[in-house]
Amino acid sequence: MSSIENNKEKLIIFDTSLRDGEQSPGVTLNTEEKIEIAKQMSRLGVDVLEAGFPIASIGDFEAVQRIAREAGPLMEGREKIGQPMTICGLARSTPADIQRCAEAIKDAPRRRIHCFLATSDLHLKYKLKIDRDECVKRAVAAVTLAKSLVDDVEFSPEDAGRSDREFLCHVLGKVIEAGATTLNIPDTVGYNLPSEYGSLIKHLKENVPGAEKVIFSTHCHNDLGLATANTLAGIQNGARQVEVTINGIGERAGNTAMEEVVMAVHTHPTLFPVYHTINTPLFFPTSRMVSELSGMVVQPNKAIVGRNAFLHESGIHQDGVLKNRQTYEIITPESVGVTDIALVLGKHSGRNALRSRGAEMGFNLDETAFQRVFEDFKTLCDQKKNVSDDEIRAIFTKSQPIIHL
Ligand code: KIV
Ligand code: ZN
Repeated sequence: MSSIENNKEKLIIFDTSLRDGEQSPGVTLNTEEKIEIAKQMSRLGVDVLEAGFPIASIGDFEAVQRIAREAGPLMEGREKIGQPMTICGLARSTPADIQRCAEAIKDAPRRRIHCFLATSDLHLKYKLKIDRDECVKRAVAAVTLAKSLVDDVEFSPEDAGRSDREFLCHVLGKVIEAGATTLNIPDTVGYNLPSEYGSLIKHLKENVPGAEKVIFSTHCHNDLGLATANTLAGIQNGARQVEVTINGIGERAGNTAMEEVVMAVHTHPTLFPVYHTINTPLFFPTSRMVSELSGMVVQPNKAIVGRNAFLHESGIHQDGVLKNRQTYEIITPESVGVTDIALVLGKHSGRNALRSRGAEMGFNLDETAFQRVFEDFKTLCDQKKNVSDDEIRAIFTKSQPIIHL
């Protein structure tokens, strides 16, 4: 498929649920579970899957290797995309990490090495204890080695969101010369505001020597609850890859949620100069799979995939939705794979919602009988928050005229 569709550029979806997501406190996935998730990511239409951090442990290495072999070649559900998912491994900017990574991904038909090195003065001084010159030297050496092993090399200046812009431009220019094809700009600690992060991407695109040869990518953490907003600002300022996770899992407060970014772009096609090739009806099943296997519960009010995302409780909303769903829904539940939506009946519900639930159950009462049902329903609602279908059926049944034979 061409990278231009209707004069829009392709937005590359890079999923890091199995790497950054797996770094969420409390998440443990075994190899079989990781493979199951990787295969689902392929069906979902993910372009690049960061399968893990191969040097981290033997288990991580084997998981990345099996994903490369078993999920790397899959084409099911990817007809529109026309190519299998790229399998990526993470490496620090050291020869041992990079070689181990290359070994783990080598059987994938499409593969990428992602190396990273911090660039903020804070990280250089306290964590790495090196100066800026040494940072540039290590970054260039890492990308040069990676490029000798694979064509597709991504470089991340860790803590870019707090790095000196001039220095960032210098390092990034040097890694482009060394062969990097994607430059990922992490807001590692979730510090940036959307205007700040957007302007950072714009500044780098305009000032990094050789910027026109590479793809810029976002990687935003959610410490201030701004990961999705920052990622969208990044796209509006020229990023063409987004690093995301399902359900927003990731270090600390998490990473950017894929389903939120994709559905924002999907819902506002005129505001973003990009298109995506994600099979959005797989969002809900994928979210549930990741939640069950990772043990990370999805909050009920989570955008797009939360249990309540398409439920309406207030009577005014229920009445509107029954008349036309668009009154209170900006995307259809079906478009993200949510089926079997029922109105939640409780004390805020109105007559229209109750009558319609009764009709679904096969009850068609005259006005007087329905009025009795409605009064019984409201009495029950004063006693409990939500009324179940069985209780509604019982109330309607009680009001049916008894036929004596
Ligand atoms: O948040 C971060 O900086 C990262 C890098 C390894 C890309 O996860
Ligand atoms: Zn991260």
